[in-house]
Amino acid sequence: MLDVKLKGKTIAMVLPSKVGFERVAMECSASYARILGFAADKIEDIKTAVSEACLNAIEHGNKGNTEAKVHITMAFDGQGLAISVKDEGQGISHPLKEPNIESKIEGLEGPRGLGIFLMQNLMDEVEFEKPGNEHVVKMVKYR
Ligand SMILES: Nc1ncnc2c1ncn2[C@@H]1O[C@H](COP(=O)(O)OP(=O)(O)OP(=O)(O)O)[C@@H](O)[C@H]1O
Ligand SMILES: [Mg+2]
Repeated sequence: MLDVKLKGKTIAMVLPSKVGFERVAMECSASYARILGFAADKIEDIKTAVSEACLNAIEHGNKGNTEAKVHITMAFDGQGLAISVKDEGQGISHPLKEPNIESKIEGLEGPRGLGIFLMQNLMDEVEFEKPGNEHVVKMVKYR
């Protein structure tokens, strides 16, 4: 996993924990990836993953606490764009299960529960960390 603390090359952002602000992170990641020369389809993957990670941080991590923040870093080391999304919550409390896409398409189960699945499928690396009173998802997309 890449270290996102690449001195001098890291973009850091602190967003209010409010649905809608995920778009700011999404656009920023796209802009950075474009500057770095990522292909258009990879930029779309990054945008979706960043948006889902931020929405999870807002909804499940910070749980409507308007004082809480979403902290985002983005860094490129020459090969991969490493993005971390941190919230002030307790992290994922239950084992993750693979969504049943067919049963969702057929309407046999609700449409939710796809965010992490999308992140894992669209990014090259995805890790969850729980350092103290914070939860971080770290993702890498290679150019
Ligand atoms: N940052 C987080 N903090 C705490 N729990 C989380 C966090 N991110 C995800 N989770 C837990 O993992 C579950 C699965 O997340 P996932 O994004 O896959 O689905 P969802 O958010 O429930 O629905 P969707 O993303 O499809 O709208 C969530 O329902 C939540 O219980
Ligand atoms: Mg989600």
